[in-house]
Amino acid sequence: MPQETLVEARGLTKTFRRADGTEVLAVQGIDLDIHKGEVFSMLGPNGAGKTTTISMISGLLAPTSGDAKIGGYSITKQPMEAKKLLGVVPQEIALYPMLTARQNLEFFGKMYGLGGKELAASVDEVLDFTDLRDRAKDRVETFSGGMKRRVNIGVGLLHKPRLVYMDEPTVGVDPQSRRRILDTVIRLREERNMTVLYTTHLMEEAQELSNRVGIVDMGKVIALGTVGELIQQVGEEDRLVLNIGHQELHNGLLERLQGIEGVTRALYDAPTQLSETNDAIQNGKITIYAKRGRKALPQVIQLTNEAGLEIVSVEVREPDLEAVFLQLTGRALRD
Ligand SMILES: Nc1ncnc2c1ncn2[C@@H]1O[C@H](COP(=O)(O)OP(=O)(O)OP(=O)(O)O)[C@@H](O)[C@H]1O
Ligand SMILES: [Mg+2]
Repeated sequence: MPQETLVEARGLTKTFRRADGTEVLAVQGIDLDIHKGEVFSMLGPNGAGKTTTISMISGLLAPTSGDAKIGGYSITKQPMEAKKLLGVVPQEIALYPMLTARQNLEFFGKMYGLGGKELAASVDEVLDFTDLRDRAKDRVETFSGGMKRRVNIGVGLLHKPRLVYMDEPTVGVDPQSRRRILDTVIRLREERNMTVLYTTHLMEEAQELSNRVGIVDMGKVIALGTVGELIQQVGEEDRLVLNIGHQELHNGLLERLQGIEGVTRALYDAPTQLSETNDAIQNGKITIYAKRGRKALPQVIQLTNEAGLEIVSVEVREPDLEAVFLQLTGRALRD
């Protein structure tokens, strides 16, 4: 069966101008097709351009150039028609803390043009779907971060959109709430055949949820496909990650590690101080790519010890989306 395209973005570009006149190329010509009934994730680090992209394809921000169609309607030329089809769950929680969960939903429902019985039914349904029914009468200011997120998600679903955008909905929530939010995304697709555009900087989330993933970096989609297709791009190499704490790397070790049979690359991330006031240190890391990681491990450890470095911990990781990002950019998706 041919895929029906619900979102079609072409050449989306956004340049911001800072107060000092410098330009920020936040999004640089993104093309994107999102198919009906899929969960599509945009996976990328902080500042990659995820929110800017979502803001443009939801009509909140005018593109510098390019356009997007939602269900065939141009978001720039037919914004009313296009916006009817989509619900947006923004990265920043936008709720009235003094109002109850139900009052918030009623307020935002009215903004969407709902009223009367239709609104009441929709609010009830959303409260059930987000599992907030028993807290409906409590003020949002008394809610945990995860519960606020769920109300925020509920707001995005009130007018029964065909597709929903969720911008990093699990940031700053406890693990249990995170699980609930991920399950909500899965249920939206499985039970309601909804289309979801999901952004995250966490590869585990993208791997678990997505039918397809677009990896974004510095305003561009640098890879796109199913999780399996993307992982295939990096081949079958394992990654050995050596945590070397606060120690600095000595000359020549990376070259010697690269000489081990099966090893294709060795990279070094220096330890860093996270902030001046906070003395928390990000550990130094050596990352080694090898065809059969476990086989190379004894020699890796030996050479590293001979270089006078003490290894704090070692991890052997099989290919994943993090590895895809690393291979494409030379940087880690997260610390
Ligand atoms: N209003 C603005 N004015 C100037 N620069 C901006 C503005 N909004 C975003 N940017 C810049 O554009 C780039 C992309 O930002 P964006 O918020 O889209 O990234 P993101 O992928 O959503 O990141 P995060 O994971 O931190 O939410 C960043 O360099 C950011 O600093
Ligand atoms: Mg963002």
